[in-house]
Amino acid sequence: MLPRASPTRSAKAGISHSRATPPPSVRRSAAARASRSAAGAAVPSAATVDTAKGKQLFTATCGSCHALADAGTTGKIGPDLDSAYFGDRIIGMKDSSFAALVRQQIDLADPPMPRHLLKGQDADDVAAYVAKVAGVKMAQQYNPGSSPP
Ligand code: HEC
Repeated sequence: MLPRASPTRSAKAGISHSRATPPPSVRRSAAARASRSAAGAAVPSAATVDTAKGKQLFTATCGSCHALADAGTTGKIGPDLDSAYFGDRIIGMKDSSFAALVRQQIDLADPPMPRHLLKGQDADDVAAYVAKVAGVKMAQQYNPGSSPP
């Protein structure tokens, strides 16, 4: 059983994806966005994003609500993003799909998360940063063959 990020999530299953298999709506839109990014539109390539800036922006803008180990943030209002993405990480979701999901969340968040906290390049940088780090360590430590730590 994979960890659930927060009990409030179940009410909003539409955009949640902490389960190992995201709901079809999320998977479709992630795939749609990923394919647009392949065509050079929705999600910028690694060469055009600045994940160091994304980290700073995340800490300043998102960390009050979200825990993320790499950024050292411990917010509890929103889901812990390591836990939220760990399951997807294990099943091998690509960084570009993670970035598309985070980018989409920034634009289409439901309350209490405000929409459009960041825009344009700033939003792209944060999405790329979260995609790069969220759940990575947890997934590396995860060993289905061993007993839990
Ligand atoms: C005011 C608090 C708040 C702030 C600030 C905030 N969030 Fe959220 N965020 C939430 C809440 C609450 C949820 C859960 C909403 C839901 O499940 O519908 C959420 C959900 C998310 C999710 C989806 C997680 C999942 O499991 O699917 C992502 C990704 C996310 N936020 C990223 C960000 C980023 C990036 C920022 C900064 C630009 C940010 N959030 C700022 C409260 C916040």
